Amino acid sequence: MTSTLLRGRTLSFLRWPETVDDHCAWRYEDDGGLLLRDGRIVAAGAYADVEKKADEGVKKIDHRPHLLLPGFIDAHAHFPQMQVIASYGAELLDWLNTYTFPEETKFQNAQHGRRIARLFLDEMVRHGTTTVAAYCSVHKGSAEAFFAESHDRNMLNIAGKVMMDRNAPEGVLDTAQSGYDDSKALIKEWHGKGRQHYAITPRFAITSSPEQLEMAGALCREYPDLHMQTHLSENHAEIAFTLQLYPQARDYTDVYERYGLLGRKSLFGHCIHLSEREADALSDSGSVAVFCPTSNLFLGSGLFNYQRYRTRYKALRIAAATDVGGGTNYSMLRTMDEGYKVIALNGEKLNPFQSFWQLTRGNAEALSVVERIGTLDQGSDADIIVLDARATPAMRLRMETADTLAEELFLLQTLGDDRAVREVYVAGRVMKSDLGLNVGP
Ligand code: GUN
Ligand code: FE
Repeated sequence: MTSTLLRGRTLSFLRWPETVDDHCAWRYEDDGGLLLRDGRIVAAGAYADVEKKADEGVKKIDHRPHLLLPGFIDAHAHFPQMQVIASYGAELLDWLNTYTFPEETKFQNAQHGRRIARLFLDEMVRHGTTTVAAYCSVHKGSAEAFFAESHDRNMLNIAGKVMMDRNAPEGVLDTAQSGYDDSKALIKEWHGKGRQHYAITPRFAITSSPEQLEMAGALCREYPDLHMQTHLSENHAEIAFTLQLYPQARDYTDVYERYGLLGRKSLFGHCIHLSEREADALSDSGSVAVFCPTSNLFLGSGLFNYQRYRTRYKALRIAAATDVGGGTNYSMLRTMDEGYKVIALNGEKLNPFQSFWQLTRGNAEALSVVERIGTLDQGSDADIIVLDARATPAMRLRMETADTLAEELFLLQTLGDDRAVREVYVAGRVMKSDLGLNVGP
C-alpha cells in the first residue's frame, strides 16, 4: 500500500487553550511531518522524525510554508438550502414559510436531491470542511442522496432526514409513523456504512406533533449511539409559538426533555435565549449547544452568549456551525470571524487559538467523534487541510506585519475564506488542490 508523507507547519490541539501563551494546549511543528497510509495518519511530529518511519516508495508532498490543520467541522447545516441562502428580509418563522419550506418541497424529486447533495459536499470540501452534521429535507430520498454522495467521497458526515408532520406545506410533511419508518430504514441502510453516521432529526417542536416527538424519542432509545439534532430557542416568536403548542412544558427545552431527546449525542442548534434552568438541563444531560453566528446575525435572532455558557457553573458543551442557508457563508473561517464579533458584542473575546480549537478538536469533541477526526494525532483519519495566510493580496500585505502564529491564525479567520484553503485531504485522498496535485481517486 502506498503511503504519503506531508511536510508543512502542523498545528493540532490537545485541549482548550486558556490564553495565547498556553502552549501545552496545542502541538505546533514549524517543520512538521504527517505520514498517511490507508486513509489514516500513521505518524506525526517533527518532519525529520516522521521521515525515518516512511518506507522507500513514499510519496512526498512539501506544503511549506503553509499550515497543515485537521479539516474543519461544521456542526449544523441544511444541504437543501443552497438556493435559500441570501433570501431577503424575514425573521425565522416568515423566512421558513416564505423561502425555506417551498424550496425544500423540490426535494421530492430525487434527481434534484442528488444534484444539490453533490454540489453541497463539493462546496464543503472547497471551503475546507471535511465533516458536517447536515439536515436533509423531509423526503427519504434526500437523505439517500446525501449519504450516497458522502460515501462516494469517503467523508465522515452526520446526517438525517428531517421529521416534520405539521405547520408546514403538504409537500414537506411526513407523519409520525412514516417519519419513524423512513428514519429507521435510513439508519439500517446508512448508519455505520463506511464513515456515515445517522442523526435522528426532528426539525423543531413547531413542526412536530407530540406523537412525532414521542417517535423521535423512541428512536433515540432504540439506537442510543445515534446523534439527535434539532433547533432550540432561536427566536422569540418561535419560543412563544412552541409554548402555545406545548402548554404543559415548563419552557422550550422541557419540550424536548419530556420526550427523552436530551443527551451527550444531542445537538441543539442556536440556544440563544435560554433561561438558567434550560442551560442547567442541557449541561446536566451533556447536550450540545450549537453556535451559528452568521445565521443568528442574518435572521436577527440574537447573540449567543458563548463565554457565559462556557464558563457558567454548569458549563455547556458548545459546537460552531454555519447553519447554511439561514447562515450566509459555507466557510468556517467566515463563521468564526462573525462568531468573534458576536462574542465581542457580549463584551468578551475569543482568542485565535480558541477559535481554531473550536473549528477542529472542539467541534469533534462536541460531536463525540474526536477518536477519529479533529486532530492530527497518530491513528486519526487523514482529514487534513492546507491553509495559506497569503492567499490574497490583502492577506499577503497584512502578513508582512504578522510576527506570531496567533497573529497569522487571527488574520486567516478575519480575512480568510475558501481561497485560503489550498488543499484538502479526505481520508488521505486529495479532494481539492490549488497546487497542482491530482484530485480524486
Ligand atoms: N428552525 C427550524 N428549521 C430551521 C431552519 O431550517 N433553519 C433555521 N435557522 N432554524 C430553523
Ligand atoms: Fe438550522
